Amino acid sequence: MIQKLLTEYQRSKQDNSDDSLFYAQPKYVHHLDAGFRLRLKKLYLANLSSNSIVLDLMSSWVSHLPESLVLKRVIGHGLNRSELESNKRLDSFWIQDLNRNQKLPLEDDSVDYCLIVAAWQYLQQPEEIAMELKRVIRPNGKLIVSFSNRAFWTKTPRIWADGSDSDHLNYISSVLISQGWTKPECVAEKTYGNDFLKLIGSNGDPFFSVIATN
Ligand SMILES: C[S@@+](CC[C@H](N)C(=O)[O-])C[C@H]1O[C@@H](n2cnc3c(N)ncnc32)[C@H](O)[C@@H]1O
Repeated sequence: MIQKLLTEYQRSKQDNSDDSLFYAQPKYVHHLDAGFRLRLKKLYLANLSSNSIVLDLMSSWVSHLPESLVLKRVIGHGLNRSELESNKRLDSFWIQDLNRNQKLPLEDDSVDYCLIVAAWQYLQQPEEIAMELKRVIRPNGKLIVSFSNRAFWTKTPRIWADGSDSDHLNYISSVLISQGWTKPECVAEKTYGNDFLKLIGSNGDPFFSVIATN
């Protein structure tokens, strides 16, 4: 029996239309700035081993994986076919609305790492997803959930829309722990969008990551 943490209100969102409609048109944009993306690549280099199998859940036309990292296989998932077809790091992908169906079409212990970037905030049934990820990630494999302070706010459940950055870190950790994950590591850092911003002391997208080991 799955342990539910969220109330129905916390799962609700302003725009309840089909998520597939929202992502029907490809969005060939970066959802995070250059400083954030650079920090993410460094985090991946420190945490991912080469020749491993990676699942990029809730992906797009980019997976943010360092070019130097040689992997055995990268499996993608998302909602927009054109974006996923354009993603050069993916060896395969599938399309599935995780707010409608949380069962992942992957074998037990079949991936080494799962990456989720700028996307956990759209999950309305995160407990089921956390449980499924525990099933498909092999023992000692990792789940890395990264995000900033931006979102398509009409599409985020209230639990995210109403929370602060630190609430978001605690929320993801609590969901994972509720489904049997051990306490994850949390990263919260400033970034600098580019050299000019750094020079004038202005910040880029803040960087947050939750790293959980199975
Ligand atoms: C802001 S984009 C981030 C995409 C990508 N991870 C990146 O870093 O560019 C949010 C992504 O979440 C995924 N997503 C949003 N709602 C979803 C849903 N209901 N089911 C499955 N995926 C969803 C889509 O793949 C969408 O591209």
